[in-house]
Amino acid sequence: MRRKLAAGNWKMNGSIPGLDMIGKLKLKHPECPCDVLICPPAPLLAPALNNTAGSPVQIGAQNCHAEEKGAYTGEHSAAMIAEVGATYVIVGHSERRAAYGETDAQVAAKAQAAQAAGLTAIVCIGESLEQREAGEALDVIKTQLKGSVPEGSAGKTLVVAYEPIWAIGTGKIPSMEQIADVHALMRTELRARFGEDADSMRLLYGGSVKPNNAANIFALGDVDGALVGGASLTEEDFSPIIEALAAS
Ligand code: 13P
Repeated sequence: MRRKLAAGNWKMNGSIPGLDMIGKLKLKHPECPCDVLICPPAPLLAPALNNTAGSPVQIGAQNCHAEEKGAYTGEHSAAMIAEVGATYVIVGHSERRAAYGETDAQVAAKAQAAQAAGLTAIVCIGESLEQREAGEALDVIKTQLKGSVPEGSAGKTLVVAYEPIWAIGTGKIPSMEQIADVHALMRTELRARFGEDADSMRLLYGGSVKPNNAANIFALGDVDGALVGGASLTEEDFSPIIEALAAS
């Protein structure tokens, strides 16, 4: 059985006072049957971890460097993320692929570094609107999945998030059939590559997940949770999504 995962990507949002929501989540979901994860900006990782004692909430980062250390000003390694007590790292988010030109190969190298440091890598993939409209979405997903997921991945060390670029921050989501098709394809491709291990890898949907659409998305086969942006910033929005996942 795959343990479901409600993951929040705060992007470049949040503040020390805003970390209070972690304590509120703890009170609201003391024995949550799902994993709950918050990924704040790097400077907030340690303060966020101070809010998680006795809590089901785990903390993750939004990026790591593929190298262990060195002259990479402004970067942080996977081992540093692990050292402060975080357990996950998002790699290959489309915003980083677009803004910093991250390639599939670089994303795979980051994911591999994360796994080597004992973290679970959340590898993000997703097509653009042009690719979707041109009927290329499934091919794009196949290529990104193959190139971005490193060899040696397993259920404990890999989560894949399908985030169509055009659904991020727009309030638009694909049809349930489109989400189901992509998730089925991802499972098939991962099985072909990793065999039985693929059955324990969690596949998340991300892109405009809100309290009012979460239950429908979570009812789909092979959707094991969500990577949530805007609606993960407050307990009021994130709690109903966690509840929908727990009930699915
Ligand atoms: P929104 O939920 O704000 O659309 O963001 C999704 C996302 O990019 C999560 O990584």
